[in-house]
Amino acid sequence: MTEYTNILVEKRGRVGLVTLNRPEALNALDKATMDQLVAAVTAMDADPGVGAVVVTGSGKAFAAGADIKEMASQGYMDMYAADWFRGWEDFTRLRIPVIAAVSGFALGGGCELAMMCDFIIAGDNAKFGQPEINLGVLPGMGGSQRLTRAVGKAKAMDMILTGRFIGAEEAERSGLVSRVVPAEDVVEEALKAAEVIASKSKPVAMLAKEAVNAAFETGLAQGVLFERRIFHSLFASEDQKEGMAAFSEKRQPEFNHR
Ligand code: CAA
Repeated sequence: MTEYTNILVEKRGRVGLVTLNRPEALNALDKATMDQLVAAVTAMDADPGVGAVVVTGSGKAFAAGADIKEMASQGYMDMYAADWFRGWEDFTRLRIPVIAAVSGFALGGGCELAMMCDFIIAGDNAKFGQPEINLGVLPGMGGSQRLTRAVGKAKAMDMILTGRFIGAEEAERSGLVSRVVPAEDVVEEALKAAEVIASKSKPVAMLAKEAVNAAFETGLAQGVLFERRIFHSLFASEDQKEGMAAFSEKRQPEFNHR
C-alpha cells in the first residue's frame, strides 16, 4: 500500500481501517492529512475486496478541527485561489459505506469529517462541537449545513453560535450519532458494524447509501421515486437472485458483488 505520513491504513478482511495519526496536534486536519485520507479511502472505494471503511482518530481526539496553525496567516485570495477544503468534496462523493468511530474530541472540521461519514459510532468520552466562532470564523467544511440537517435548527444554532461542546449522550439524543459505546470499544464496535456491511453485496450497499443520501438532496416524491427505480434495477443483479434464493432455501446468501 502507499506510504502515508499522517494516517495509518489497514485492511482487516473486507474492512478498511484508516486512523488519523497526528496525535501531537490532536489530529488537526491539515491539507496533507486531507489529501492522504481522501486518497486512501478512494483506493478502498475502488477495491472490490473492501466492502466498508472505518475512519477513526488516535490519542485524545478523533480530530480537533482543521489545522488552525496552517490557516492562521492565509489571506482571502490564498483561501479562494486554493479553494481551501475543496478536497473534502471528494470524500463526500465516496460510494463505499464509511463509519466514523469517534473517541474524544470531534471539533470543527473533526465534527464535520465525522458528519461526512455515513454514520457515527461514539465512545462515551466523545465531545462534538463547532467552536469556529471562537476563532473569528464559522464552520467551513459543511458544518452549518450537515449539523443542521442532523440535529435540527435549534441545536445547530446553539452549537454554532455559542461554540459549546456536546457529549456523546446529548449527541445520540440529538440524532448526531447512531450508537454510544464504552470509549475503549469504539473502534471494535465500528469494525464489527463495518464487517456486517461488508458481508452484504457491495453494489447494493453503495446504492442503499445513495438512496439515503438522496433524502438530503431531493424532495420526498423524487426521493421515493429514486429509491423505487433503484429497487427495480437490482432485479438485474446476481446478488438479488442469490439473496432471495438463499432466503427460500433457508441458508445464508453468498454474494458475489455483481
Ligand atoms: N489546529 C492546529 N493545532 C491544534 C488544533 C487545531 N485545530 N487543536 C489542537 N491543536 C494542537 C495544539 O495547538 C497543541 O499543540 P502544541 O502542543 O504544539 O501547543 C496540541 O494540539 C494539543 O492541544 P492542547 O494543548 O490545546 O490540548 P488541550 O487538551 O489543552 O485542549 C482542545 C484540547 C480543547 C481540543 C484544544 O486543543 C482546542 O480548543 N483546539 C482547537 C479546537 C478548534 O477550535 N477547532 C476548530 C478549528 S477551525 C476549523 O475546524 C474550521 C472548519 O470548519 C473546517
